[in-house]
Amino acid sequence: MPGQKPIVVVGSINTDLVASAKVIPAIGETVMGTDFQIHPGGKGANQAVAVARLGYPVSMIGRLGNDAFGEQLRKHLEGAGVDTAGIAISDGTSGVAVIVVSEKGENSIIVTPGANALVTPADLDANLDRLRHAGVVLAQLEIPVETVEYLGILCARENVPLILDPAPAMDLPSGVFRNVKWFTPNQTEAAFFLKSAVGEANESNSSAVAASLLAKGVQGVVLKLGENGVYCATGGSPGFSVPAFQVKAVDTTAAGDAFNGGFATGLMLGKTLIESARFASAVAAISVTRAGAQPSMPRMDEVNQFIQMHS
Ligand code: RIB
Repeated sequence: MPGQKPIVVVGSINTDLVASAKVIPAIGETVMGTDFQIHPGGKGANQAVAVARLGYPVSMIGRLGNDAFGEQLRKHLEGAGVDTAGIAISDGTSGVAVIVVSEKGENSIIVTPGANALVTPADLDANLDRLRHAGVVLAQLEIPVETVEYLGILCARENVPLILDPAPAMDLPSGVFRNVKWFTPNQTEAAFFLKSAVGEANESNSSAVAASLLAKGVQGVVLKLGENGVYCATGGSPGFSVPAFQVKAVDTTAAGDAFNGGFATGLMLGKTLIESARFASAVAAISVTRAGAQPSMPRMDEVNQFIQMHS
């Protein structure tokens, strides 16, 4: 899409080691698995691949280790169409995520960050031109918080909207919030940031949850409520809900990443807020019907067909 400002993703790149089992084991429990697969993942890389599959120009800023996983991960990103020139190499291991997926498609994840922990503010300075010319920047919390904080400052200074996916949830310096255009937590992340002040976000309290998050200083909130859809709110206008598409989930890993990639792409393509949220919900819905993180991201024609079928 010549002439369109690219989306830039600043974030993690992982190899996902995925064991499938009937149920996710409880603490101290051993269960027999049914399958094992290795997929490219990482919240940052997944969001970048989601955008690239939709055919929109995207580049990534991050770090890989100088191990065999690193090389593979870069190839996967490039194969999907992501510009990887902003990805640096560190001595040591690349990020790895150990994931268990149940037969209902639920997951639990442990991330060992490896090189992702070495993404510094200096990496952002080294890619300042890339950031400056972005249409929108996507970030998550699998890289150091001080880097995300600095990213917010740069985005505000350069007038580039920042979409922050606060996953995994962790304490953020209060100054981060005011530099965020769209804050996109899921239910448990929203509860974390509000210290459960209004309980876990759900269909009935989503407007109160969004209002409390807006009060932290973010300019807009998109609450990702899983099978209950999404709730969007900004300070200036009344909030609205977008119902989820009903699909049979095989693997919900990276559904939130699919949503964020789709949401950013929708906005960049000039869709309205409500259209972007619906488009992103379709991207996420398709992704949960497929196994793996990056392999599950749909192409634009698949999303358009899906939306048509569900209209
Ligand atoms: O959001 C899903 C992702 O979380 C996985 O791909 C895994 O790598 C972890 O980062």
